Amino acid sequence: MSEASTPSTGPSTGPSTGPAPRVLSGIQPTADSFHLGNYLGALRQWVALQDTHQAFYCVVDLHAITVEHDPELLRRRTRVAAAQLLAMGVDPERSALFVQSHVPEHAELAWVLGCLTGFGEAGRMTQFKDKSAKQGTGGTTVGLFTYPVLQAADILLYSPEPGPGERTFHVPVGEDQRQHLELTRTLAQRFNHRFGDTFVAPEAFIPAGAAKITDLQEPTAKMSKSASSPQGIIDVLEEPGPMRKKIMRAVTDTGTEVRYDEENKAGVTNLLRIFSALEGTPIADLEARYGDGGYGTFKKELAAVVLDTFEPIRERTAKLLADEERLDRVLAHGAERAGAVARRTMDVVRDRVGFVGRGH
Ligand code: AMP
Ligand code: TRP
Repeated sequence: MSEASTPSTGPSTGPSTGPAPRVLSGIQPTADSFHLGNYLGALRQWVALQDTHQAFYCVVDLHAITVEHDPELLRRRTRVAAAQLLAMGVDPERSALFVQSHVPEHAELAWVLGCLTGFGEAGRMTQFKDKSAKQGTGGTTVGLFTYPVLQAADILLYSPEPGPGERTFHVPVGEDQRQHLELTRTLAQRFNHRFGDTFVAPEAFIPAGAAKITDLQEPTAKMSKSASSPQGIIDVLEEPGPMRKKIMRAVTDTGTEVRYDEENKAGVTNLLRIFSALEGTPIADLEARYGDGGYGTFKKELAAVVLDTFEPIRERTAKLLADEERLDRVLAHGAERAGAVARRTMDVVRDRVGFVGRGH
């Protein structure tokens, strides 16, 4: 099952031969649009990583049903999520962009890994505690409890294969996912210990340039689809008018100085971070440019930068969604590529665990 015998699909990062290092990430289709925090904190890096890595990017619909959901809404949001990723620059020829449920090995490996996970170990996941506390009268589910195990399966299915190539394995995720990554590493090591060397333990990877973005109305809190008010959040697919208004109305302070100061000027600091990340200008240069000039001009020019970034993405997303059949074909192509890797991994896993082969 070595891939070293097949030519690399991505550019190599160094003098070593063989396939480029792998990267995998997933995002839930639980909103009608991604937001600025998702874009600057994660998705923009997905696009950049395609240059150096063999990438697997997954819209995790199985994860989205761990809380109560509406089936039609899930179907729509899954396509909207995929369309936005393509519009942002995920290239389906270079990277495998796919929907999790199209590759049934995710659920299959999750079962095997679940049988290696301690009950108490799963119970210590803080995101489970947070999310289950928020479930209403319906109560929490076993699916939500085992969610991190499914995430471990998402990742380990694409663990680099043995051979002379790069065996580093990166998973770009935010701080809140660090504990799930630790569990994934533990499960990889446990499987290897019990059944023989199979998985590479992945490394959490916060790429350079990933920025933590806060709420425009509550600049000390994270911009978040579940916690932010509509005024505090900028959606990638938002119309230009409301987008500009939200930036102009972003909470700052009573001063006039455009200066980076996380403690005393959280609002201005957040806006500086956004500006710097989108325009590629160092924060110090922005401070020098806007300095004492008050917040009006600064916000107006920031709004222009945000609109310039998102308008083309919004237009491309709309075009992609207008031709659902074509979009579904792109996703089917991604599932084929991901599925080929996932099947190879599962063949090894089934054999090592002791399942009888199906024969030919
Ligand atoms: P979520 O939709 O919260 O599950 O987040 C999806 C991805 O976007 C994760 O990789 C998060 O780390 C990232 N993300 C979400 N909100 C923010 C934020 N306010 N700033 C930076 N990154 C974020
Ligand atoms: N749990 C992640 C989140 O809520 C989403 C996710 C699912 C994921 N599977 C993954 C992220 C695999 C990275 C790798 O953001």
